Amino acid sequence: MTNQGITAARPREITLRFLAEPTDVNFGGKVHGGAVMKWIDQAGYACAVGWSGYYCVTVYIGGISFYKPVFIGQVVEVKATVVHTGTSSMHIAVDVAATDPRTGARKRTTRCLIVFVAVDGAGDTVPVPTWTPETEEDQRFEQYAIHMASLRKEQEAELLAMDSLPLR
Ligand SMILES: CC(C)(COP(=O)(O)OP(=O)(O)OC[C@H]1O[C@@H](n2cnc3c(N)ncnc32)[C@H](O)[C@@H]1OP(=O)(O)O)[C@@H](O)C(=O)NCCC(=O)NCCS
Repeated sequence: MTNQGITAARPREITLRFLAEPTDVNFGGKVHGGAVMKWIDQAGYACAVGWSGYYCVTVYIGGISFYKPVFIGQVVEVKATVVHTGTSSMHIAVDVAATDPRTGARKRTTRCLIVFVAVDGAGDTVPVPTWTPETEEDQRFEQYAIHMASLRKEQEAELLAMDSLPLR
């Protein structure tokens, strides 16, 4: 399958920048985790579509760690980077940082790995361009993504081996 005739260089990463708004607040006055996860999904989606040239769907979000809270009014940066490609999947590392615009103090708040799959108009998977690591850091990230994929398979096998949970 061709890649819709896309010939321009594919961007490996994308960064979304915006202000954390009052509508993102949780009961404790900080940005709620669901809002951060939505930003991660959006940045990952834009990155995956940019890399593949196709509509993409999320199949996995994992390894998510919330290190620090994000406060309303901070400048949020959500950076998504392709760290591994399979046949139709793109494994994307997402980093979230927040900066206080009054002081310039910046902190990393969240990090995770998210997997997207490229699909065509019928919803069938399509091959994506292969990403090849260039630096030692690239290789470390790719190894991490591959390791996570193998851990996921073990977890899924354990879950399937258990009886299903009854719905009451
Ligand atoms: C994406 C989808 C069409 C893939 O169909 P499928 O029959 O599972 O296809 P495959 O088994 O060939 O998997 C396709 C790829 O996805 C990967 N994949 C599928 N499920 C995965 C999961 N839970 N975690 C990680 N990777 C996964 C496979 O490893 C494979 O990767 P590869 O092509 O690089 O080898 C299907 O899983 C789907 O529709 N999922 C729901 C997506 C969705 O609704 N997301 C939320 C809203 S966007």
